[in-house]
Amino acid sequence: MSILVTGATGFIGRYVCAALTSQGQQVIAMMRRPEELASLRASVKQFGGDPHLLNAVHGDLDLSKLGITESLPALSAVIHLGARFAWGMSHQAAHQTNVVGALSVADLASAHHCRFILITGFMLENISHLARIGIDINQPRATQWQKVYRRTGGYEASKLEAAIRVREYCLEKNIELVEVQPATVAGHSQTGDLDIAQPLYSLIDNVATGRLAMVPGSPAHWLPLIPVDVLADIIAAACSADTPPVRILALDKHTPNLQPMLAVVAKSLRKRAPQQYLPVALLRFLLRIPGMQTLMRTSIEALDFIQTTRFDTDITTAFMQQHNIVMPNINQVIINSSERYRT
Ligand SMILES: NC(=O)c1ccc[n+]([C@@H]2O[C@H](COP(=O)([O-])OP(=O)(O)OC[C@H]3O[C@@H](n4cnc5c(N)ncnc54)[C@H](OP(=O)(O)O)[C@@H]3O)[C@@H](O)[C@H]2O)c1
Repeated sequence: MSILVTGATGFIGRYVCAALTSQGQQVIAMMRRPEELASLRASVKQFGGDPHLLNAVHGDLDLSKLGITESLPALSAVIHLGARFAWGMSHQAAHQTNVVGALSVADLASAHHCRFILITGFMLENISHLARIGIDINQPRATQWQKVYRRTGGYEASKLEAAIRVREYCLEKNIELVEVQPATVAGHSQTGDLDIAQPLYSLIDNVATGRLAMVPGSPAHWLPLIPVDVLADIIAAACSADTPPVRILALDKHTPNLQPMLAVVAKSLRKRAPQQYLPVALLRFLLRIPGMQTLMRTSIEALDFIQTTRFDTDITTAFMQQHNIVMPNINQVIINSSERYRT
């Protein structure tokens, strides 16, 4: 049996392919450009996986039936990581790839009668935030999605809509759904490897270049993190576990609050950490000034992820213990990510 992975070429996907193949699992990467398989195999090898167990099939989330024309082997699971991941996207494009695409991937899992591992995000567990942006989690069908897209931007809205629609669809079609809900992804716990396009990289870059003169929010605000390798191990375990939890919140609750986190980054970069706080509402207002988002290299859309809610991670902790996955010291992960940035 094989596991099909969408988004295999992405930052998280490459580590997921490495984790799965290191456990002897056959993996099929659904790729828009399968001719780049050799490069993906090289990353998988570098990250400790077995490149010989990795193959590719052409597929695109934007195409009908994913554009897959080859016949696939029997699948034990489908992992859906593929997404348009950027700030300032057109709502239509975000909806097409992230919502319609996710439903097509759920359809594929249904056709193969296999488990569907959907990668969503930790904000789905922030119920008061969802209510604020117009989603009643008990009555998700009543959501006026256009308003949510306008309020949060294309990325967050489409990821929330995808999760809610896929949950409904899987229930209707009797598909076994496991949702992994990652916090903002930090670098590899040992090497600090972090893609330039990742939100944490931008934050580190803003500290390094002195653009972040003040701390967004208050002393209670934080940006929960999860190291990429731990997330990959959790996703791999969600495939192999006999009865995984329905939702796994992948988040280190020991992530320091934002100011101490920035202080750790600044110390690693030998820079001064910002000390003064700028309320999120005021920052949101300032970022609406034309040109300000570019100047501050900060997007209004990123601000929702900096918040004060604390989360219950007991289910995740128990699952990680069952699968011998250890959460490393998150301060050290932040240091490693920052030091890797410097090199
Ligand atoms: N990184 C985080 O902090 C974070 C936190 C929570 C949740 N997540 C979720 O985790 C998933 C992976 O994130 P990431 O950080 O690894 O993202 P990433 O590095 O931007 O990777 C995105 C992946 O999606 C693929 N993709 C994009 N459009 C596609 C399309 N039309 N058809 C097929 N594949 C397409 C890309 O393939 P190409 O190589 O063809 O471009 C790439 O493999 C996403 O669903 C994201 O929402 C991420």
